Amino acid sequence: MAKKLVFPSDFYFGTATASYQIEGGWNEDGKGLSIWDTFSHTCGKIRDGSTGDVACDHYHLWEQDVALMKDIGCNAYRFSISWPRVLPQGKGRFNPLGMEFYDRLVDALLKAGITPFITLYHWDLPQALQDEGGWAVRDTAYYFAEYASIVVHKLGDRVKHWITHNEPWVVAWIGYGWGEHAPGLKNERVAVQVAHHLLLSHGLAVEVIRDICPDGEVGITLNLSPVHPASDTENDKIAAVRHDGFLNRWFLDPIFRGHYPPDIMELSPIFLPEVQPGDMAIISRRVDFLGVNYYTRSIMKFNASAKPLQVEGVAPEGAEFTEMGWEIYPPGLYEILMRVQKDYNPPKLYITENGAAFADEISPDGGVHDPKRVDYLKKHFAQAHRAIEDGARLAGYFIWSLMDNFEWAHGFTKRFGIVYTDYATQRRILKDSALWFKKVIAEKAVEID
Ligand code: FCB
Repeated sequence: MAKKLVFPSDFYFGTATASYQIEGGWNEDGKGLSIWDTFSHTCGKIRDGSTGDVACDHYHLWEQDVALMKDIGCNAYRFSISWPRVLPQGKGRFNPLGMEFYDRLVDALLKAGITPFITLYHWDLPQALQDEGGWAVRDTAYYFAEYASIVVHKLGDRVKHWITHNEPWVVAWIGYGWGEHAPGLKNERVAVQVAHHLLLSHGLAVEVIRDICPDGEVGITLNLSPVHPASDTENDKIAAVRHDGFLNRWFLDPIFRGHYPPDIMELSPIFLPEVQPGDMAIISRRVDFLGVNYYTRSIMKFNASAKPLQVEGVAPEGAEFTEMGWEIYPPGLYEILMRVQKDYNPPKLYITENGAAFADEISPDGGVHDPKRVDYLKKHFAQAHRAIEDGARLAGYFIWSLMDNFEWAHGFTKRFGIVYTDYATQRRILKDSALWFKKVIAEKAVEID
């Protein structure tokens, strides 16, 4: 029998995007280059050879995109600001035209009854700062705090929800450790230092944001996954604990407890970043919320030769996967929410990203039928609801993503939107999942079978 899971009346139902993935307008109105402009323009880095030069052309079509969200009924929207649009060189000269874009967007959102949640850094570092070493150098953390101050001065009268960083683990490891994202460096020791500078910049920005916008709230978004051992053997259990330390605790512990996880630090000298006196106090400044991005769980087994962690990911047999190859595992959302609530007790939680890529197509009837995404979302919303009932202070849920967009190194080959983007014409089509979400928001409830 169908059952309705009712969400709190002040719950935020939104979608999430990121500047480089949707905006386009890569060299317009005085915008400086970002590391993603450079990276995507480098041959061989993006799977389909595409770039974010135009992407969803949101820089020009933003009014229509706000109207889409209004039509769906969203009461919140998470988006990011392109740092080089505002500060073309990352520091110094301010670009008023770039800032005006976000100023207009914020006004339009508020007019539509949509609460803006702004991410200050969703990976598009100004290239000029990368030329000086990027996140591998400590100064970048201070430049980030200056940039935060400029943005919050401008928008803080209207924007009350601030996210410093999106997924610092991905920036550090995939960007600087393994080279699959911009800036494309491959140095694991540097990755650990980058993670430290990202965390430091977070802490510095928390103070700046709170000073300028005392009636706002500030937090950070982490990519978190529950980690399960591949078997009951002691070694596989060790592998799971280590991967949890590497992926989850490496960020949660400093932010909420003011130290890095000792069990990981002792594994290898690469896990001993340069930390200056006072850094950990800055990093662990109180946050108002934690943003959780959840897509899948991790299953790990021990592999003695995979230094330094000696762990290896395993794909579960018989499971269902999305187009990203990620296992569909809804209970993992409940597990991770309950775990962070219990172990770290943040004042509030938001699911700042959850969603799935499937090979969507426009069907002959003109619609885009994505039953797998609807099913995915239904099951994950049900787990979020269960977490609320069991005491998680979850206050909002942002689906990744509003519309299909530039999926980093995968280019345009992965469609995550609840709205279909026809890249040739920039036509947007509400997928069935958007229609489903519309009903959910109208009823503030999710119907499950
Ligand atoms: C997250 C990113 C987001 C998007 C989704 C699929 O790691 O934050 O930009 O790429 O994955």
